Amino acid sequence: MTSDMTDLARRFALAGKVTLEASPLGGTVVRLTHGPHSALVALQGAQVLEWRHHGHDVLWLAPAARLGTAKAVRGGIPVCWPWFGPNAGDPAKPQHGFVRTRDWTIEATGGTSADGRPAASVTLGYRTGAQDAALWPHEATVRLSVVLDDGLSLVLETTAGGAAPFDLTEALHTYFRIGDVSRVRVEGLEGREYLDKVVGYARRRQAGAITIGEEVDRIYVGDTSDVTLVDEGLRRRIAIRSTGSRSAVVWNPWVHRTAQMGDMGGPDAYRQMLCIETANAGDDVIRIAPGGRHVMTVRYDVAPA
Ligand code: BG6
Repeated sequence: MTSDMTDLARRFALAGKVTLEASPLGGTVVRLTHGPHSALVALQGAQVLEWRHHGHDVLWLAPAARLGTAKAVRGGIPVCWPWFGPNAGDPAKPQHGFVRTRDWTIEATGGTSADGRPAASVTLGYRTGAQDAALWPHEATVRLSVVLDDGLSLVLETTAGGAAPFDLTEALHTYFRIGDVSRVRVEGLEGREYLDKVVGYARRRQAGAITIGEEVDRIYVGDTSDVTLVDEGLRRRIAIRSTGSRSAVVWNPWVHRTAQMGDMGGPDAYRQMLCIETANAGDDVIRIAPGGRHVMTVRYDVAPA
């Protein structure tokens, strides 16, 4: 163990619940354990890299994923902040903001959930500063709490520190592992309007459950607080319940985009992943006043299909 890791372990490890580890992907991770369930959260980007529910992976992670490079890790739950997608004012800035590749600080760990039941949790924070000024000139703190119990809960909190208001868009960009893309559907967004990013953000309306048979890149707007991923291949359903969010992104790159990206781990990798992202994106822009705060949460529960 390095001295940094020893110090972190001394301050934040909790017997049987929270350990600090050097990840084979290259950086430091926090391992949460709750009975038969576990999760790994990287300090880089506060990114959940893995969640095992009764030993089964719920999340998809690209096989070649590495921490500590200039490129964001593809997979798990990246935090897109303080903007989602291309930057509105300058397309040369990184897509999805800049905190995916920053090192966050562990603020706390714990052994109970918000309502006092047994759980394993970690809270990480990142404060913008001079290193970010060229990309984003505002003062703010972003905090992510990850709570593992029989499900997984995330709380993403933004607190403004500066003197001017700013607009926030963001996402918890969750990559779900799926049995096969031809045998999944997403329920709960029937009748919702969406912006279709594949055809220039055209406004469309969802008829029925979502199935994937081509590149899908959509921002659903409105009430997106109760969504279910039904996976016939893995015979499970994942309930996705959110607050503080009035948009959800559904993304599968399909064949052509997978080949263009080059970090998916092979031409067929898109068949085993589907992103369903809890967001403030599209029309759902959050204006934060000086000293103001915004909280977005999501809770995932896995059940047999
Ligand atoms: C999705 C976007 O949220 O993320 C897609 O809607 C984008 O347009 C995808 O391609 C992946 O983004 P990135 O920056 O991780 O390659």
